[in-house]
Amino acid sequence: MLQISASGKGVTESPKKYTRFIITNESTTSHRFIEHEDGTTTYKTGIGKWDKIDARSFRTAIRGLVQAAKGHEVEAFVLELQLADFPKLAPYGEAWFVSTIVENLALATYEFTHYKSKAKKKLLRDILLCGVTTKEAKAGFVRGTIVADYTNRARDIANTPGCDLSPQQFGDAAKQLMQGTKVNLKVLGEKELTKLKMGALLAVGQGTKSESKLIIAEYWGGGKGSKELPLVLIGKGITYDTGGLNVKPSGSMHDMHLDMSGGSAVLAAVAAAAELGIKKNIIALVPSAENAISDTAMRAGDIVTAMNGTTIEVLHTDAEGRMVLADALTYSERYNPRAIIDVATLTGAALVALGQHASAVMTKNTELEATLRTLGEESGDLLWPLPLWDEYKQHLKSYRADISNIATNFSRFGGSIEGGTFLSHFAPKNVPWAHLDIAPRMDSIPSDKLAKGATGEPVRLLIKFLETY
Ligand code: BES
Ligand code: MN
Ligand code: ZN
Repeated sequence: MLQISASGKGVTESPKKYTRFIITNESTTSHRFIEHEDGTTTYKTGIGKWDKIDARSFRTAIRGLVQAAKGHEVEAFVLELQLADFPKLAPYGEAWFVSTIVENLALATYEFTHYKSKAKKKLLRDILLCGVTTKEAKAGFVRGTIVADYTNRARDIANTPGCDLSPQQFGDAAKQLMQGTKVNLKVLGEKELTKLKMGALLAVGQGTKSESKLIIAEYWGGGKGSKELPLVLIGKGITYDTGGLNVKPSGSMHDMHLDMSGGSAVLAAVAAAAELGIKKNIIALVPSAENAISDTAMRAGDIVTAMNGTTIEVLHTDAEGRMVLADALTYSERYNPRAIIDVATLTGAALVALGQHASAVMTKNTELEATLRTLGEESGDLLWPLPLWDEYKQHLKSYRADISNIATNFSRFGGSIEGGTFLSHFAPKNVPWAHLDIAPRMDSIPSDKLAKGATGEPVRLLIKFLETY
């Protein structure tokens, strides 16, 4: 486990065990270790011209420091940075600055080692951040620690293989995640889901003995008797997506244990909100199922009735995420939400559209879209919009049922918008609602400077949303 601590003192006053990271204006290719006679070691490294560094390059630079530390088997290092040295970061303020440093140190240090039979000998275990003196800096430090901790815990859950994370085990992991927080957790099983008439969620999970679940996390932070309407987060919780009878090809299946990344992200965000003491009512809903293949699995061509009475023609068993989300969106109505954000690894088409540098945001609410995009830039969980126009609805008009779960002509064009459009049939009317297709950010890429596997996105964004909206 990594420990990050803050100190009001300067780097030269820190214990000798800490390698002293001296960050310079030189290019990133310039770096060297210097061993001193007094037993201390300094590591001098450039991060480029400081007056050119913006929020994006700053986060990458911080992660680069951790990468360097890992590469050189440094077990403990100390650093000090001051906001005043980075003119482009000034508008964000000192709390943001320190929180961002802590978040990215911890996110870059994270590795998923649970299944490694031999531990690495030298691990980065200890980082000391000096020069944390003001009230804002200290608050940012505390915040950053919580944000990073829950983001990494979301990554742990997401990275767990399908053999060890059934919907039931996902519910157990959620309970563990909420331990010590003021979040109430309920896990509904198939008996209750049947009573609720969640026919879409149940259909997706009918091909396996693993029981489908609806994980419900409620955080009533608004205070006793608070009439404030809750913010509702909904996360896709497919613990493994084989594609169903429309089975995925081999190269596309192996990392589908990550298909519950949206679910783990919303749960982590609520837990973090509670730990941060956000004074709002916040709900997370995670419809969870395994999209398996068997003689009991839903068939292409089946027609199922969703909780809101809409009949769905299952034209493609691999378009399962939108089906489980449909019933969760209907269920959210009972909370009379102030706003709803759903988060899902919904479509490969989102990667075709955006590559792997941003998630897609779809909403008809332009104000909510602008807010989310701004918070995306501030947090590092970047978003880019796709339209949710009514023109797209015609493609889901089924001749056998109310709607089909993919375009009736099997066209792959506009696949992500098609997913969002399907969901729009189930989102409560007159409530600001945004759909985030996080498939592009499900897996890390080398330029992220993160461990391979789950990125933990968009936990940082969701926390900012819960703090400010
Ligand atoms: N979980 C997948 C989407 C996905 C693909 C996420 C790649 C991350 C990386 C989803 O359930 C799915 O299979 N979507 C289909 C939809 C299609 C059948 C309309 C897809 O993208 O192919
Ligand atoms: Mn699928
Ligand atoms: Zn899926």
